[in-house]
Amino acid sequence: MAEGKILAGFLAPHPPHLVYGENPERNEPRSTGGWEVLRWAYEDCREKIKAWKPDVILVHSPHWMTIVGHHFLRVPHLRGLSVDPIFPHIFRYRYEMNVDVALADACYEETQREGLVAKKMTNPNFRVDYGTIVSLHMLNPDWDIPILGISANNSPYFYSTEIGQEQMIKLGRATARAIAKTGRRAVLAASNTLSHLHYDREPELVEDMNKEVIFNNNQYQWDMRVLELMRKGKTDKLMSILPEFMEKTAAEVKSGGLTWMLAAMGFPTIPAQVHGYWTVIGTGNAVVEWDLTRRQ
Ligand SMILES: [Fe+2]
Repeated sequence: MAEGKILAGFLAPHPPHLVYGENPERNEPRSTGGWEVLRWAYEDCREKIKAWKPDVILVHSPHWMTIVGHHFLRVPHLRGLSVDPIFPHIFRYRYEMNVDVALADACYEETQREGLVAKKMTNPNFRVDYGTIVSLHMLNPDWDIPILGISANNSPYFYSTEIGQEQMIKLGRATARAIAKTGRRAVLAASNTLSHLHYDREPELVEDMNKEVIFNNNQYQWDMRVLELMRKGKTDKLMSILPEFMEKTAAEVKSGGLTWMLAAMGFPTIPAQVHGYWTVIGTGNAVVEWDLTRRQ
C-alpha cells in the first residue's frame, strides 16, 4: 500500500445560510438565493475536489462539542435530519454519509500516541451537527466521497487558548500520521468562520442582502490581516497572531479546526488561495484553499 497523503486543506465556514441560499433538495426551507459570492467560491472548490478523486474528506467542526476528549465518527453509515438549533427556519437538512471507519481507528490510535484523550463515536443513531454537514455539503453536495468527522474538544479552553491550540497541533500531527499509514489520499476541512461578532436581529426576508454588511471595520481589518498572511504563505506569523485574533474578534478558529489543519499539513508556506470572502449576519467568512498537490 502506498503511503497516504494530504492533497489539500480548506478553510470551510459553515453558516447554514449558504445551504439555504443554494436551495438543494436535501434542505426543506426554500429561499430566493443570497450569499452568492461565498457559494460561488465553494463551487470552485467542488470542481477541484472532484478532479482529485480523494478517498476521504476529514472535517473538524466547532459545533460537535465534546467535553472529554477528541472524538472521531466511527459509524460506517449515518443518516438523519439535522436541524440548526439557532436557525431551524432555514436549515432542516436530510443527510446521508459514509464514514471512513478504518481511518477513524487509525486517528484514534495516533491520537493516543500523542497523549491526548480520545474516543470513537459508535452510536448508530448519532445526530451529526450542522457545522460538519454544512462544510461537507458546500465542498461536495453529492456526498459520494467518504468522510471523517472530528469533534471540538472544548475542555482545553477552560484553561487557556494556548493549551487548547497546543492540543490541536498534536491532533493535527496524529491525523497526518493516520492518513499516511492508511494510504488515504485525503482532503481536510476546517469548519470555521473568521471574525464572529454578529447581528442579533434578522431581517423579515432572511436573505435580504441589503442588510448583509460587515459588523464593524475593526473586525473586517482583522480578517484581512489574517487572510493576507494566508495568501503570502506566512504561516508562522499567522500562528503567532491567532490568539490575539481570537480574543479581538471572537474568531471561531478558537475551536481549533484551523490549527489542526495547518499542523496536519506541516504548516505549509505555499500561498493559500482565497476563493471568496463575505459576511453572514455580519461575521467574516472566507473560503480558502491550500493546494498541496502543487508542492509535490
Ligand atoms: Fe459556527
